[in-house]
Amino acid sequence: MLPEYFDYHIRSRVVAGPGVASALGNELRRFERKRAFIVTDKVVGQLGFLDRVKKSLADAELDLVGVFDEVPPNSEFGVVMRGAAACRAARGDILIAIGGGSVIDTAKGMNVVLSLGGDYIDYQGFGLIERQLGPLVAIPTTAGTGSEVTAYAVIRDDATKSKQTIVSNHLAADLAVLDPELTLSLPPSLTASTGLDALTHAVEAYLSTNWRPISDGIALHACGIIVRWLPVAVDDGANLEARYEMLVAACEAGMAFSSAMVGCVHALAHTLGGLYEVPHGLANAVLLAPGMEYNLPVAEARLADLARAFGLKPTGDQARDARAAIDFVRGLLPRVKLPTRLRDLKVPEGELALVAETACLDAAIYTNPREAVAEELLEVLKKVY
Ligand SMILES: [Fe+2]
Repeated sequence: MLPEYFDYHIRSRVVAGPGVASALGNELRRFERKRAFIVTDKVVGQLGFLDRVKKSLADAELDLVGVFDEVPPNSEFGVVMRGAAACRAARGDILIAIGGGSVIDTAKGMNVVLSLGGDYIDYQGFGLIERQLGPLVAIPTTAGTGSEVTAYAVIRDDATKSKQTIVSNHLAADLAVLDPELTLSLPPSLTASTGLDALTHAVEAYLSTNWRPISDGIALHACGIIVRWLPVAVDDGANLEARYEMLVAACEAGMAFSSAMVGCVHALAHTLGGLYEVPHGLANAVLLAPGMEYNLPVAEARLADLARAFGLKPTGDQARDARAAIDFVRGLLPRVKLPTRLRDLKVPEGELALVAETACLDAAIYTNPREAVAEELLEVLKKVY
């Protein structure tokens, strides 16, 4: 049955292809801005990607007026404010984010503060951004978050040790540049964990109560691509085809969950990231199969669809197919050399109840197909500890 009403919104232009980051300057001309400001992290700075982008900016006669490379893996409110102050001081008028999800989300946050003024903390929540922000270009260096096209910025608040989300269609980048050459040097462990983040986006978007036909199609397609190509990218990081497929599929998964939203796996992963700084992809990886299993009583048909998307042969028995989808995801973790237990992520066993309770307050929980209860989530956490 179709939803009575739905909207589907993607505001980003996407350009993709090997070497496309080197031609960035040409793409930027259309913005008619002159003062580029780069947001990135130290690792990207060391990998030489910046030099490519700098050259392409120079070719297009754009001035690079500043580089803010202080974004940590789990960025926080103070970083956003410092980055915005640096860009303001340099009088940058177009933001270029080069990095993983933390970098891109930080640039989104900076764009909010630079465009609308005030403090980043003032904009937390749904729909508080009512007008167009300044131009933002996102160049992901991991195939995972899909942040380049999503309506979200998830940033850690040090004061409350929680991850806070801004939701607005104005947040997504104006231009997303998918250059698989930039992901070639990503080590196997990060390739695997960020890839599992992308898979979690696609799976949770498909299971979400906020599903819509368009996000369904994109999510199922992304699932098939990720399970086929992630093991290849992990085993052979230099395989450009695998990197290309993963980068595009992660972007697709972003397009799916940007409208459909996510569920209990992300609610728990946000909580673990906020409380213990557990890397987002790892938390999702460990919790994805348990989260699917938790939703099994209310989402059997959709889980069976996922089994088909993963390339599993239908058995003619929906319950069996749904189970097979969960088992498949569970089996994928050792295949890509990821941990399978919460204890591997150094989550304190004595605080699982706190994790379950906090996750029930996370925005991602509201679109989980099964109404989440803290006591039940605690059982899920105990089982996978
Ligand atoms: Fe995620």
